[in-house]
Amino acid sequence: MAEILADNKNQNYRIVQITDSHLFADRKTIFDGLNTFDTLCDVVNLVIKQQKNIDLVLCTGDLAQDTSIQAYYNFVDALAPLSAPQLWIPGNHDIRSRMQQSLEQNCIHLKRSAQLGNWRIIMLNSNVEGHVYGLLDQKELADLDLELADSERNGSHVLVCVHHNCLPVQAAWLQQHCLKNADELFSVLDQYSHVRGILYGHIHQEFESSRNDVKIMAAPSTCIQFHPTNDNFTIDNAQPGYRWLNLGADGTIESGVERVSGKSYNIDFRSTGC
Ligand SMILES: [Fe+2]
Ligand SMILES: [Fe+2]
Repeated sequence: MAEILADNKNQNYRIVQITDSHLFADRKTIFDGLNTFDTLCDVVNLVIKQQKNIDLVLCTGDLAQDTSIQAYYNFVDALAPLSAPQLWIPGNHDIRSRMQQSLEQNCIHLKRSAQLGNWRIIMLNSNVEGHVYGLLDQKELADLDLELADSERNGSHVLVCVHHNCLPVQAAWLQQHCLKNADELFSVLDQYSHVRGILYGHIHQEFESSRNDVKIMAAPSTCIQFHPTNDNFTIDNAQPGYRWLNLGADGTIESGVERVSGKSYNIDFRSTGC
């Protein structure tokens, strides 16, 4: 069922999360004052400097802003120096079929799941065409249940990835665009005791919490950041970044966020939306 990326169950695995790059077909396009292709490359260079032997890159949506196939080719090019397998899920700005068309290279997948030693990574599509908010339809929830049952049988720990936030954020404008049926997600997850983490993007900010001993994490965008508490759309002055995770063979998750430093960007703080 799951794509097997590594089979050593006694090993720890290193994962990098790259999210919300909001790329355009034209690599020179400026978005809210930033060249999003350049900031993605800045983040990738930071990853190369800081992370050795990456086992998997999780790309958690809003990879393109203009939904062009070329934007996805640009994303593939920007991440090529990482030389690691990638799993993608769509965000509200993405079109899954166009993502699929761009995935001609090996080691990049829009797969449901992957097995990394003692870990099952499960990818959920929360995209609702034409809407900013997210929803897991009945097929996604049923597939999640199947993956959880299968991974429980083989003794794996589980990390679930989805684009939209399943825990609330403080900023009201952003919270209305959350995963609308987080309760249904949790009611599936709560039937199992081997789920260790949930990872998402979408909120363009660092976030870390837990629920029933499950670690819940989000990463900064590789471009603009959202102010975490303002109820109206406000761009924060935090730098672009990424999240790293160390998945222990014993089911533990160590994780942290790193941001680009030593560069200043001409962010348009007057922007009223993304
Ligand atoms: Fe985004
Ligand atoms: Fe999003």
